[in-house]
Amino acid sequence: MGFNIKNNIYLVGNVDWEIESYQGYKYSTHKGSSYNAYLIKEKKNVLIDTVDSTFTDIFIKNLKNEINLDDIDYIIINHGEKDHTGALPELMKLIPNTPIYCTNNCAKSLKGQFHQDWNFNIVKTGEKLNLGDKELIFVETPMLHWPDNMICYLTQDNMLFSNDAFGQHYATSAIYNDLVDQNELFVECLKYYSNILTPYNSKVIKKIEEILSLNLPLDMICPSHGVIWRDNPTQIVELYLKWAQNYQENQITILYDTMWESTRDMAEAIAKGIKEADSQTVIKLIHLSKKDKNDVITEVFKSKAILVGSPTVNKGILTTIASLFEFVKSLEFKNKQAAAFGSFGWSGESVKLINAKLVDSGFALVNEGLRVSWKPDEETIKECVKFGKDFVKYLNK
Ligand code: FEO
Repeated sequence: MGFNIKNNIYLVGNVDWEIESYQGYKYSTHKGSSYNAYLIKEKKNVLIDTVDSTFTDIFIKNLKNEINLDDIDYIIINHGEKDHTGALPELMKLIPNTPIYCTNNCAKSLKGQFHQDWNFNIVKTGEKLNLGDKELIFVETPMLHWPDNMICYLTQDNMLFSNDAFGQHYATSAIYNDLVDQNELFVECLKYYSNILTPYNSKVIKKIEEILSLNLPLDMICPSHGVIWRDNPTQIVELYLKWAQNYQENQITILYDTMWESTRDMAEAIAKGIKEADSQTVIKLIHLSKKDKNDVITEVFKSKAILVGSPTVNKGILTTIASLFEFVKSLEFKNKQAAAFGSFGWSGESVKLINAKLVDSGFALVNEGLRVSWKPDEETIKECVKFGKDFVKYLNK
């Protein structure tokens, strides 16, 4: 059965307590996730989105308990990605002529993925669907999360169905934002924003301003993942506006990998120097081989500056560091400073290579970096401590 959210609106999605990663292994889901679909039963009955294919059978069974499938007048697909459309092909086998309302890009995406020529009805920003006494208003939201996304707003009930926007990969039975552990919730919100939406900061700001300018009353925001925002729903909108403005905290993160602990010793000594120079800044050390890449990205997102360290290996750098840059570059961080460090035994190219990757990823270099040959001794550890102190000294200069 669905869960009655308000008046004639029902949550008909599924909670995924077991999922450990999303989009293959691109995004770790330590706290699970959910695929929130919604059923609106007005004079016209509307299904908004479906669920991941893992839950197809249970989704359709629950939906049948809530409504005769033939009584569904319209299906709204806010986004074609399969975590929201996985159950659609099986559903459409049962109600094949039901009109699907979506953006032009979403229709392309659905055709490309499922190779079906369903009854597509293309909608654009500002267009409305009459449900009898109420209307659904559509707003295209490209890149939040894919080029095909849109959101829709239900008049009178003042509900915004935002799909990926304002969501979190967070499994809960509590449904509403005010009923869950607030620390857990906002950790997942920040991870979601930093790993998924950072490259689209300017689009996030523009789209939110566009939506706010409509002056629509807002009782709840109903995303397609995680909790429904009913308590002060605009708090997550305000957070998005804050995060989208090249957000940073007073944090420096030292990211490194190491083979025989020399680069790790450097990282520790550099952290000591930063601490001695500035006791107020939060310093985090992350051994990249031992930490989850998405949690790492969240720390980079929060940082005003990073230091990246790798030993030289085969005239290159360790693959963990190279892989990190592939991810970091794609997120197009702005207004962050950086420096490189690393130990070497023979040729010693790592610092130069990391510098190039930092610049290529949009970071401003604070200095030329620090190389240490072989194992740092007492003198070179002092150099590393000084390097840390100087790094702080020259930040923003
Ligand atoms: Fe939740 Fe972009 O899919």
